Amino acid sequence: MKTLKLDIRKTGIEITAEMKAAAQAANALLQSGEGAGNDFLGWVHLPSSITEAEIAQIQAAAERLRSKADLVICIGIGGSYLGAKAVLEAMSDPFQLLRKEQQNPTVVFAGQNISEDYIHSLMEASAEHSIGAIVISKSGTTTEPAIAFRLIKAEIEKRYGKQEAAQRIVAVTDKARGALKTLATNEGYETFVIPDDVGGRFSVLTPVGLLPLAVAGVDIAALVRGAQQMEAATADTVAFDENPAAIYAATRNTLYNDGKKIEILGSYEPRLQYVNEWWKQLYGESEGKQGKGIFPASVTLTADLHSMGQYIQEGERTLFETIISVAAPDHEVKIEADAENLDGLNYLAGKRISEVNRMAERGVQLAHVDGGVPNIRIEIPAVDAEAIGGLLYFFEKACGISGYILGVNPFDQPGVEAYKKNMFALLEKPGYEEATKAIKARL
Ligand code: PA5
Repeated sequence: MKTLKLDIRKTGIEITAEMKAAAQAANALLQSGEGAGNDFLGWVHLPSSITEAEIAQIQAAAERLRSKADLVICIGIGGSYLGAKAVLEAMSDPFQLLRKEQQNPTVVFAGQNISEDYIHSLMEASAEHSIGAIVISKSGTTTEPAIAFRLIKAEIEKRYGKQEAAQRIVAVTDKARGALKTLATNEGYETFVIPDDVGGRFSVLTPVGLLPLAVAGVDIAALVRGAQQMEAATADTVAFDENPAAIYAATRNTLYNDGKKIEILGSYEPRLQYVNEWWKQLYGESEGKQGKGIFPASVTLTADLHSMGQYIQEGERTLFETIISVAAPDHEVKIEADAENLDGLNYLAGKRISEVNRMAERGVQLAHVDGGVPNIRIEIPAVDAEAIGGLLYFFEKACGISGYILGVNPFDQPGVEAYKKNMFALLEKPGYEEATKAIKARL
């Protein structure tokens, strides 16, 4: 197993026996299914329940899309977007666009915003490509992806005809409900099911994440393997001191109870930036309710030391930080000696860039700790599919435990409906007539 190492020595806290017991009890609730939101615990044993046949079916659908399209547009928002985006960014060459040989196919995203210019640019740029689409929505009714899909579906049908379009579009949605399910059935799209008991932000290891990643050429079997290993390593039968998810959950709740209301997730590997975004949704939507919850923020380092570093070092002392540290880079680049040494960098000659990065990380850690910002360090061995699969499941398990310790239902999101009601009223959606009148009076 590619182990994830959790180090809380620089938090300055002692986890009390009560907090340890609360973490163990929370983990047991996730296992027994007797806690709040127990309709949505399908993710707990999801990795170990994924069969080789399921992986093969996803890979076959991915192969079909790959053979037909050199640009696959993946449509979804929130939990139906961020997992695939996070893993894809982590696995991708950041300079792929500069390569003479392009990745085939290229996977891009739509439906995660309602920007007219974004969709216009995408449609225009896609004119030069052979296209396919994966449309993902558990409810099948979410406005942002529905709008994007209407446009992209029309374009695919216009180019290839309805019959061929049905071969170029795959839907990932509920097994029975929602407009997308009805549409997919009527149009004859291949469809993958998002299990009823897996909420959007916990769905990266379902076809929601696995299908787009397989299309992009990510080793999804390795991703699942990493998650399976982490499922075993964080089971409720594992002792608290051996269970990284329980320790992380207990640590962040201890810090929260000590007045640390904001957790900043950061990494010195820029390709993990979207793992931060995925994590922010996971924790923000799971814990931010009933007037409680740690606010999840993020930084990318060392870049943000030159923007947010001042605040972290000396601003309000309500922060703690969690750093994802990567033990080994994929490549070796050394700093060379320079005869003139005008930049004064010869003291680094012969050193690898990663060594400088590591010393930056260690130096920042101590500076921030000295400034009153407790530090949790999560080390992963490398940025590869297996390690990322383990990291994602680690965060999911810790989130479930942490939410139960906090005393909330980590698996609902009642607060996200408020903006939708206003938006529908403003757009004069049928059924919202009274709300339309009321909201327009407030403008
Ligand atoms: O975590 C969640 O439940 C949300 O972020 C949803 O994933 C998001 O709103 C998209 O929903 P749907 O998949 O139903 O389109």
